[in-house]
Parts: sequence; structure tokens; C-alpha cells
Amino acid sequence: MEDKLFLNKLLKAMSLCLVAALILSLTQILFKKKQDRNQELEIKNTILKTAGFECKNSQEIEIKFKKYITYSIFNLKDFSKLKDTKNLPLFMQAQSYELKKAINSKHSFKDEVFYNNKVPLYIPVYEVKSNNTIIFPIYGQGLWSQIFAFISIDKKDNHIKSLIFYEQQETPGLGAQIADDKWQKKWQKKLIYDSNKNFNFRISKEKSDKKTAPFQVDAISGATITSNGVHNMIKYWFRKDSLYYKILQGELKLNE
Ligand SMILES: Cc1cc2nc3c(=O)[nH]c(=O)nc-3n(C[C@H](O)[C@H](O)[C@H](O)COP(=O)(O)O)c2cc1C
Repeated sequence: MEDKLFLNKLLKAMSLCLVAALILSLTQILFKKKQDRNQELEIKNTILKTAGFECKNSQEIEIKFKKYITYSIFNLKDFSKLKDTKNLPLFMQAQSYELKKAINSKHSFKDEVFYNNKVPLYIPVYEVKSNNTIIFPIYGQGLWSQIFAFISIDKKDNHIKSLIFYEQQETPGLGAQIADDKWQKKWQKKLIYDSNKNFNFRISKEKSDKKTAPFQVDAISGATITSNGVHNMIKYWFRKDSLYYKILQGELKLNE
């Protein structure tokens, strides 16, 4: 009799545990889905902002993104363009888990997602057809953290239209000033290349003169290391043999 009672109690306890575990994992799945969705919306909104569009709510983000933004995904090693990108998450940074996962499952590039260990093999490049703007994802190393941004550049004369740092963990009041509107606005109309198409942009503590001013953004005082990190990041992504250089010089076409 006692054995039966014990068995009953044990069975009850086990069922309770099972139900609790089920509820927990279900909540986790739902929560993760919501988190992914919010992240997607945030990135789309940042891309739209970089393109010069303001949105009031998530519905507007979706509508405007669909209407104005197109994209291509490039292989950073050989600069080839992925042909079948229909089911790829267009909003993601190429090093993100989502894009890696999608590329892996769809194209079975399993071991080819990164090259040089750190640099992703694929990167999305966005275009705003209505105003001749190309938006590039860029990232690099600050003093304490990895820094992520989108930069929009005019297709015709290659001047910078806008820049948004959307992820960084530099010190508030010091390095984190890179994400302040005040500093980001200083980038507007600056040029990356000179008339001979040489990389000429710099972030510098030195005072600019007539010759250097069109290519210079002043470094943040008290945050030279973060400023240098941003300088290096621009140099890396836009150097003369880079994918972005070739796109801006018209050697590689988007969305065809
Ligand atoms: C607590 C603390 C936080 C700091 N955070 C940053 C930072 O986010 N970015 C940065 O470039 N320098 C930061 N620094 C300052 C650097 O150590 C270094 O002094 C500075 O980059 C030099 O810039 P300056 O030549 O313009 O003074 C920090 C220093 C301290 C003590």
C-alpha cells in the first residue's frame, strides 16, 4: 500500500516537473523569437535612419524598408555576389549567427563562413535607389569593445551622407561620444577618396587646413584610442583593394 502511494507521489512530481520544463522552454522559445524580431526591427530602423528616413513605429519601419531599401550579399574574399539571397536575413551583420546559420543551411558553406578567423566571409551592402545612396555595414575595435556602424555614401561623388554607431561599449563621456549626434554630424559631406581615388580620409587630433579639411573628422579629445579605432575601421573597410572601394568606383554592381 505504502509503495503504491509513494509511486503515485513520484509520478505526480515527475509530471509536474515535465509540465514546468515544457512551459519554461516554450516561454524561452517565444521570448527568443520576440528578441530576434526586436533586433531585426532595430537594425532595419538604423539602416533607414542612415538612409535619411525617420519611422514612428514598427509598421512604418517594415513598409519603408520594403519600399526603399534593396541589398546584395558579397563574398569578402573574392567579391562575388551571392545569387540566391531570397531567404537570407537581409538586415543582419554578416558575422551574425543568423546569417551564418542561413548560409550554412542553404548553401552548405559550413567551413567557409569566416576567413582570417575573424573576418566574416559574407557582408550585406544596402542601396537606397531613390537617392543614389549606398549603405555599408562597418565594424572595428575601440578601446574596450567592438564598434558597429552603418555609413551611407553618395554613389556619385562618394561623400559621406551619414553615419550611425549603433553598438559599442566605450566609456560614457569619453569614447562613447562616437555615438553622439554631435560627433556623427561632423562626418556629413566628408570625402573618403581624393580626386585620384586614393584613400585620404582621417580621424586626427591635428588641426585641419584647407587641404585636409574635406577629408578630416576631428578626433574626440580624451578618447584618442577609440578615435584611432574608428579611423582604422574606416581605413580597413574602404582601403583601395576593398570590396567597398570597388563598389564605390563602379567596378562592382549592386542588385543586378
Ligand atoms: C576609466 C577610464 C576610461 C577610459 N575610457 C576611454 C575610452 O572609452 N576611449 C578612449 O579612447 N580612452 C579612454 N580612456 C583614456 C585612455 O586611457 C587614454 O588616456 C586616452 O585615450 C588618451 O586620449 P587623449 O590623448 O585624447 O587624452 C579612459 C581612461 C580611463 C581612466
